[in-house]
Amino acid sequence: MGTYAVTGSASGIGAAVVANLSAAGHTVIGVDLHDADVIADLGTSDGRAKAVQDILANSGGTLDGVAAVAGVGPSVPDAAAVMSINYFGPVALLEALRPALERSGAGRAVVIGSNSATTVPLIDDRLVELALAGDEDAARKHARAAQNAMPREVLDMAPSISAYASSKFALARWVRRTAVTPEWARRGVLLNAIAPGAVLTPLMLGSTGNTTEPDADEFPTPMPLGVFGHPEDIAFWVHQFLRPEARYTTGAILYVDGGTDAAMRPDAQ
Ligand code: NAI
Repeated sequence: MGTYAVTGSASGIGAAVVANLSAAGHTVIGVDLHDADVIADLGTSDGRAKAVQDILANSGGTLDGVAAVAGVGPSVPDAAAVMSINYFGPVALLEALRPALERSGAGRAVVIGSNSATTVPLIDDRLVELALAGDEDAARKHARAAQNAMPREVLDMAPSISAYASSKFALARWVRRTAVTPEWARRGVLLNAIAPGAVLTPLMLGSTGNTTEPDADEFPTPMPLGVFGHPEDIAFWVHQFLRPEARYTTGAILYVDGGTDAAMRPDAQ
């Protein structure tokens, strides 16, 4: 049985990943702002350092897998916080935990992106560039300035929609660039991403202003399967990527979105 760290473990997709791995008999170290084995704010550098320290202490220094799930949605008012939590949090954590994954001999990392990266037409190229350059201060500053320049109707709908989609776009690109570097690939640490579509969690319901399940056919993006995802639908694929047997896939982005991305970009591969 393996030892896995899961961020965002207190709710939604992260909680489903914890349940899935625990049911298979693995040891799971949950990380979240509350109700977790490791309490840490992944939106700050101090919080990330604490998370790494506590995860390593809890795991004895070796990890079989990390699922970086924690994130906030586009309805969060501060675009800078969205960048820090959704992009810089997972990147810093995975970079710091990579040696612990290497020690397992079959380390696996999965990040949760979003199909917003390819379906929301508000990607901020400069913000993506600053994120990939690792400049958190500049990215935060730019995200706030760009947010202030957004039309009122966009801000009223989802104040951080551009930062949200851009944070997930940058994260997917970081995964593809990083997974193939010798430091990861030649040391047997595989790194993949899942891009969920609309999944029924507090984040999704809060972002769309719903308290109960909305009608899939009224949703703003196409929903070919006619249903929303459940956290378990994402947790299933997270678990597949984390298995030691999943040994020939790295740098992949898997859409688990009921067909939304395929419907919107049928000819993109
Ligand atoms: P959720 O709100 O149910 O769970 C997110 C968890 O992350 C919460 O437990 C929260 O406390 C934790 N978290 C937030 N900020 C944190 C911080 N600074 N430090 C540590 N933990 C923090 O949301 P959900 O839907 O389960 O989201 C999980 C991931 O899936 C997020 O990255 C989200 O962007 C992504 N996603 C969700 C979709 C959806 O429709 N639900 C669609 C596409 C992507």
